[in-house]
Amino acid sequence: MNKIKSGVYGLNTLLDGGINENSATVVIGCSGAGKTTLATQFIRRGLELGQEGIFVSLDENKEQIIKEAVQMGWKKIVDYIDEEKLVFIDASGHEFSAFIRKELPSFVADWKGANARISIDPLTPVMWSTADRYEQRELIGFMLKETRKVGTVLATLEEHGMAGDLSGNETVIPMYLADCVIHLKSIHTPEGGLQRRLKILKCRSSRHSKTEHRYSIVKGLGIVVDPERSSLLPSKKMPDQFRKILEQKKDSIPSRVYTRLTEALEELRDDDFSEIELDTLVREIIAEYSSD
Ligand SMILES: Nc1ncnc2c1ncn2[C@@H]1O[C@H](COP(=O)(O)OP(=O)(O)OP(=O)(O)O)[C@@H](O)[C@H]1O
Ligand SMILES: [Mg+2]
Repeated sequence: MNKIKSGVYGLNTLLDGGINENSATVVIGCSGAGKTTLATQFIRRGLELGQEGIFVSLDENKEQIIKEAVQMGWKKIVDYIDEEKLVFIDASGHEFSAFIRKELPSFVADWKGANARISIDPLTPVMWSTADRYEQRELIGFMLKETRKVGTVLATLEEHGMAGDLSGNETVIPMYLADCVIHLKSIHTPEGGLQRRLKILKCRSSRHSKTEHRYSIVKGLGIVVDPERSSLLPSKKMPDQFRKILEQKKDSIPSRVYTRLTEALEELRDDDFSEIELDTLVREIIAEYSSD
């Protein structure tokens, strides 16, 4: 899987090198969590690398997004728009179902190239455009499928209701359809402070950190994440130990299985074993083949 740099300092480490090319990432967070900031950073990094950027806004108008980006310290956004390297699709006020089923596919069909970065900010109004769960799923699925044709997609999703409760319909459906889900959590402390935490909830076809990480929003830098305590260390102590135990028990495991396991171990690292006791695993492997 080809990885692309997210543009968010600290995040690539948590995604084993970056965002998977041609995937769809959904960033969930409450108001003020930094969703638009992250969506803008992602596009900005692509533009720096010579990729084109497409910003699909379903809520704020183009002028507002540009204004906020400039205030966050990205003045060059204006030049990229003038040079037509950054394209805005302002779908705010549109009938979303018609926009997704008609305007979007014709835009995609006219687009030359397949290496752009697309931000959709936010997906939430699409979910609200119909109460029918099946149609919601179809609309979001279709939108992600179409936009992935022109490149790598990052869509944001508003978190409503109880902080941290992502079980509602409007979050669950996009979470299922996305390849990668990032949760931006804001915790209000009893002392009146605000703690920001980022967690990768899933990432298809990639290793990823499974813990929460502190993040800040800094003018001129955007979102910055602290990758410390990430379980994604390159260390191979556990696979090495596993190999040793396997070798000791070699006689109890069919040789074809032994070969397959030792081959698989080549690619594994400590974080792959974070939830498993090695002795238990070997015992279960032996039990699996004991009657072969
Ligand atoms: N110029 C700035 N300098 C420093 N921090 C800023 C600046 N502008 C915004 N922020 C921080 O970023 C937060 C808003 O980020 P952003 O607009 O990306 O959030 P959002 O998740 O998109 O919110 P919403 O759901 O309301 O659209 C603010 O609450 C503030 O903490
Ligand atoms: Mg926003």
